[in-house]
This record gives sequence, C-alpha cells and structure tokens, in this order.
Amino acid sequence: MKLAQLLFTQGFGTRRECADLIAAELVAIDGAICDDPDRELVPAGLQFTVRDESWTYREQALLVMNKPAGYECSQKPKHHPSVYSLLPAPLRNRGVQAIGRLDEDTTGVLLFTDDGTLIHRLTSPRHHVPKVYEVTCKHPVDAGQVDRLLGGVVLHDDDETVRAAACEATGESTLRLTLLEGKYHQVKRMIAAAGNRVEALQRSAFGPVRADGLTPGGWRWLTDAESSALSQKRLPALAP
Ligand code: URA
Repeated sequence: MKLAQLLFTQGFGTRRECADLIAAELVAIDGAICDDPDRELVPAGLQFTVRDESWTYREQALLVMNKPAGYECSQKPKHHPSVYSLLPAPLRNRGVQAIGRLDEDTTGVLLFTDDGTLIHRLTSPRHHVPKVYEVTCKHPVDAGQVDRLLGGVVLHDDDETVRAAACEATGESTLRLTLLEGKYHQVKRMIAAAGNRVEALQRSAFGPVRADGLTPGGWRWLTDAESSALSQKRLPALAP
C-alpha cells in the first residue's frame, strides 16, 4: 500500500491532507522521515510516526476506554461533553463508534470500533456477551434482592422478565451484577424493580475486556487475545 493511502485509511485526513503531511516531512517510518507519498509499504504491523506521535497500522480499530462520569456516549451530546471528544482525531476521523452505550453517570469499560459487523454482532439481542457491573446502592442489599435479581424481575414499562446471569453482594450496599443483554437503563431499572436504587454504576468487564490501569478518560488498543475472543461466536468464560 502507498504511504499516502495508508495514512488515509488510518484517519489522518483527506487524501490531500495526508499527501501534505508527507510533503511537510511530518511522517517517519523506522525513525526516518519519508517524503514520498507513493512509497510502497506492507501495512500489517507497520509502525510509523506522525508529528512525532507513534502509531501502528490497524486494518480495523478496536479499543477500550475507561469512561469517566459526566460524558455522554453520543456524537451529538445534549447536556455533557461527548466521549468521542476524549479520542484522538485519527480515531474519530476513521469513524470509530461506541459498542453500545453507557449512561452519562456510568463509568468503566466502553469499547469502540470502526468494524460495523462487530458492532452489529456485539449489540445484537441474540449475542449474549456477559457484561459485569459494580453497583453501589442507596439502601443495604439483602439476600431477597439478590434472589429477585437472579430469579427475574419485571421492568417497569416492559412485559419481559429479565434476570441477572450472576449476582452477588460485594459489601453492605454494593453488588456485582452480570447481564447478558443491554436494555435501556437495564441495571438501574432492575435494581429499582428489586426494591433498591442505584447510587453509582461502573462497568468492570465487557466479555473478556477490562479497563484496569486506565485512568478515567484513558484508552488502549485491545490485545490480539481480547480481539479474537470478542470476534468468536461464543465468548470464553470471564476472567475472575
Ligand atoms: N445499565 C444502566 O442502567 N446504565 C448503564 O449505563 C448501563 C447499564
């Protein structure tokens, strides 16, 4: 692939802008400036810098953010800044989108990709990817509430019964809840239906992916193992 085309696929602007970056000697490969837009390169695994920032060629972008509170998962946010404003321009330019949404006040694991097929598959109601939530409740959690969440609760304005795939009290008023679906405000509505109220919500895992070690608003590329686990039809069991 030609260098200018490679930069274009990675979100560095229009073809003209990518050619201009190269002509301005702002692109380096293997530590050496390359000013030839037509230089032929093998893209797989290629490392390059643009304005001294390091990048690796990726045919498809797949990353995890530790979503902070106070950000909306929308491209056109209404009341708070968008999570997309936390991503570098090349990722926004290449059209990464959040895989599902978290509420403005929910924190934790939020995946992004520009792979439309993967978004469709992972957000499809038929694809039961386990999502783990750490819930802080307003009132103490009792065994009856845990049993109701595991046995199934009927959500307000919804005829269907939804149940947690796993649920355990982790403290006097905290719970760990694993859900296989992603209905609107599902955790908050389930906890309300079980007789309590959510005070704070953090998603600690999406399938095999966690955001441990990422500062709020920070992001990282998924590892090869995480990417291939997510791309499998059946997800492997969650890491403890
Ligand atoms: N359930 C909720 O209620 N809110 C979220 O952000 C995610 C799951």
